[in-house]
Amino acid sequence: MAKPKAVLFDLDGVIVDTATHHYKAWKALANEMGFDFTEADNERLKGVSRVESLNILLEIGNVEKNDQEKEQLAAQKNEQYVKAISTMDDSEILPGVKEFLQELKQENIPFALGSASKNAPTILKQINLYHDFDAIIDGNSISKAKPDPEVFLQGAEALQVNPEDCVVFEDAQSGIEAGKAAGMYVVGVGNPEVLKGADDYITHMTEMSVERITKK
Ligand code: BG6
Ligand code: MG
Repeated sequence: MAKPKAVLFDLDGVIVDTATHHYKAWKALANEMGFDFTEADNERLKGVSRVESLNILLEIGNVEKNDQEKEQLAAQKNEQYVKAISTMDDSEILPGVKEFLQELKQENIPFALGSASKNAPTILKQINLYHDFDAIIDGNSISKAKPDPEVFLQGAEALQVNPEDCVVFEDAQSGIEAGKAAGMYVVGVGNPEVLKGADDYITHMTEMSVERITKK
């Protein structure tokens, strides 16, 4: 593509490895309800909202709960998750992320967060990146979850850039679909055999540069 005019980052699994903290908290809940929850199952939860994640979890365990019980279970999961992220610091930023953000700043390319998480601001503050982002779109500001493109379209709008000039970084299938539905160039962070439909793939942000995107 031409040189990007803006970059949109997913948070969990792209900027920081909170995907493992989410997984552990859901697994603990599943075990408590008497069923197992594997890492392969967890792929379905990546990028998906808290409420929708719980619905998928209950479907996997073949367990039925009423709305009140669901609310309590989601709160219980979040309590464990919040405890896990409360001790995070910038050493948990994934390899190459700081350097790539630095490069974007040098190139005057603005960047925003596009995350489904309501805990996104807390995490960005914990890892000292809160003030680096030009805009933060998270689970508190969107009404439609990924794969709906809303989160990324809001990001493009906040940065005043056309969707086709934006690059999205995503580690979730739902997120890749959201980025493509928004009409953006999408880089999948992870295994191409698990993540389908991205324009490019990396394992770590260390492989990324503005030049790489521009040459594609
Ligand atoms: C996404 C994660 O970023 O945020 C999902 O990939 C998670 O696994 C979702 O369910 C919502 O997060 P939170 O912090 O609002 O429960
Ligand atoms: Mg993610």
